[in-house]
Amino acid sequence: MLKNRSLIEPGDFSQEEMEGLFCLAGKIEDNPEYLRDSCRGKILATLFFEPSTRTRLSFEAAMLRLGGSCLGFAEPSSSSAAKGESLADTIRTVSCYADAIVMRNPKEGSALLASRFSSIPVINAGDGGHHHPTQTLTDLLTIRRIRGTTENLTIGFCGDLKFGRTVHSLAKTLARYSGTKMIFISPPELTIPEYIKDMLNKEKIFCREAERLEEVMGDLDVLYMTRVQKERFFNEEDYIRLKDFFILTAEKMEAAKKDMMVLHPLPRVNEIAAEVDSDERAVYFRQARYGMYVRMALLASVLGAV
Ligand code: NCD
Repeated sequence: MLKNRSLIEPGDFSQEEMEGLFCLAGKIEDNPEYLRDSCRGKILATLFFEPSTRTRLSFEAAMLRLGGSCLGFAEPSSSSAAKGESLADTIRTVSCYADAIVMRNPKEGSALLASRFSSIPVINAGDGGHHHPTQTLTDLLTIRRIRGTTENLTIGFCGDLKFGRTVHSLAKTLARYSGTKMIFISPPELTIPEYIKDMLNKEKIFCREAERLEEVMGDLDVLYMTRVQKERFFNEEDYIRLKDFFILTAEKMEAAKKDMMVLHPLPRVNEIAAEVDSDERAVYFRQARYGMYVRMALLASVLGAV
């Protein structure tokens, strides 16, 4: 039962609980009337201290489609954070007005902190370069609905693996599925953090690192592209040097399996050439839609509507 539960890190939900969400999301995709109005009278607060398009709007669309309402802010400058209010006080206040909180914040650990001060469930929509568990639900639902299974996958993570929170959450979660193999493709400055590597080694997950996409393209079932996370760099020069390190082109796609899937949490900057969009293996815009379905399933569960 997910009623009244917070979601801070991917490990907060068991594999069975996640499977339950995927089934529910699948039912919603197959029948858009399913769960309609199930959250009437409930209020979702969306507190975004960092920019967002898909995560915030898919949560809001999900809540509206469930018949509930939303309030919140899309940038901290319009909240009392700009006057110096602490996160703890903001959360205690919002807990008085809403039934659940979705929060994105640039500080690692902020979602956990918020959950300690909240009297209502808190859903982490990204805490700095740490985790982004609802993107993981989105990614896994996409793979499941298109490929049919999330087991025995060879997945290549490409781009900014150091700061990319979606990579950290997805790698941690895929480690639970049997037969997963992970290939990390990044420039040496943006490799996957040691704590994730240690966790994968402990779980005896097959992993290797590569510096070139071409080296591994033919081995992959899923290619997970990511943007270089400009906002987490300390200096502009490093960003400029690294930002175009990997660009996925139609030519590179020729070496990939016929059923390989290209995922990207989006936003895309330069790392996928627009010509790849028309390749049927490029599923990132379908992925954005799955994000709404899985967030509908999550909200309906957390708010006790199912
Ligand atoms: C990601 C994020 O915010 O971490 N975006 C998203 O939620 N879909 C990826 C990114 O910003 O690069």
